[in-house]
Amino acid sequence: MKRSNTIYLDHASGTNLLPEVKQQLSDWLDSSVANPSSIHNEGRRSAADLDEARSGIANVLGCKPSEILFTSGGTEANNLAILGTAEALKEKGSHIITCETEHPSVLESFKALEKNGFRVTYLEVDGNGDVDPDDFRASITDESILASFMWVNNETGIRHPIEELAEIARARGIRFHCDAVQAFGHTHIQLHNSVVDSLALSGHKLGAPAGIGALYLRKGHAISRKSFGGSQEQNVRAGTPNHIGAVALGTAIKSHAKNLDANTIKYDELSKHLQNQLKTLPGILLNRQGKQYTPNIVSCSFRQVDGEALFIRLDMKNIAVSNGAACSSGSQAPSHVLTALGFDEKLAQATLRISMGIGTTRDEIDDFCEELKQIVTSIYRDTE
Ligand SMILES: Cc1ncc(COP(=O)(O)O)c(C=O)c1O
Repeated sequence: MKRSNTIYLDHASGTNLLPEVKQQLSDWLDSSVANPSSIHNEGRRSAADLDEARSGIANVLGCKPSEILFTSGGTEANNLAILGTAEALKEKGSHIITCETEHPSVLESFKALEKNGFRVTYLEVDGNGDVDPDDFRASITDESILASFMWVNNETGIRHPIEELAEIARARGIRFHCDAVQAFGHTHIQLHNSVVDSLALSGHKLGAPAGIGALYLRKGHAISRKSFGGSQEQNVRAGTPNHIGAVALGTAIKSHAKNLDANTIKYDELSKHLQNQLKTLPGILLNRQGKQYTPNIVSCSFRQVDGEALFIRLDMKNIAVSNGAACSSGSQAPSHVLTALGFDEKLAQATLRISMGIGTTRDEIDDFCEELKQIVTSIYRDTE
């Protein structure tokens, strides 16, 4: 029987609007939608709202408002920082460095640069998905101009040692970009104490709508523009800004900063509770071994369980979690992250990413574990 209510544990893909964002958006329905570039009073009001959102975000991140650029999301922020920096610095060198488990918005940017003559080092990770700072140090050459690492991996939840990596880059005079899409809201990020040069954020991971994101770009670090037509967003990103989205993002970012400590305690508790129950399931492997993980993401895999059957049953029960395969052109290829960790195709396909959000409760975790137990027990094969 299909449940009438969904168990939604896929918040790392997209999470519910925060109540304060919902309220704000509903107020907006009756308010002005004037273009912030317009010279009339209504336009100036929109521009003032945009400025306020920018200042609020800068205040939380510990940077200057002029260092925040609004984008359409995390993908555009990563694309812009990586492509724009490489293009701006190409006279200085043509070597760029990243890691094999980055998000496709980073990896595909590097691949595009590779096609255009840049030499790319894709650093390998260990069996937990961690990158070794010594490998990064050793990969830097006199030709290196840019490195990009994610703060938190979206599939496994592992945290990379971003400040250490950024210090290594700074010591060798290369720019350092960080994809912080899965980190913000779960990590203290204070850019005035940091040597990170640019950083990407996404609204729909934070309880703002999809279609808005932000790029922090350190003052004085010019990048080449990648869109043309207008002088919006510091002359780097053309196009009418999504000022309603920006206001919502500002509200969500302030809310996460205010509640970070309380939310971390809550996620820690839920995560331990979840893992304690998962550990009792047949064939389970918890993909969190002794390193630093964000508490809101738990990845686990099942030996002797057919991944396809597992996800069909979960879906029939109205349970929303992510799996370890990227669906492209109708085929379920194993995720590049899990492959990099050494998972074979079968294990990658029987991997779940369970991710919690602001509204997740202990009861929801219990319901999920109960359903999962029934499913796994019924499809687990003792021998293969
Ligand atoms: C780590 C990471 N980077 C970037 C993105 C892309 O963000 P957006 O969906 O806002 O384009 C995502 C989205 O899943 C992500 O998890």
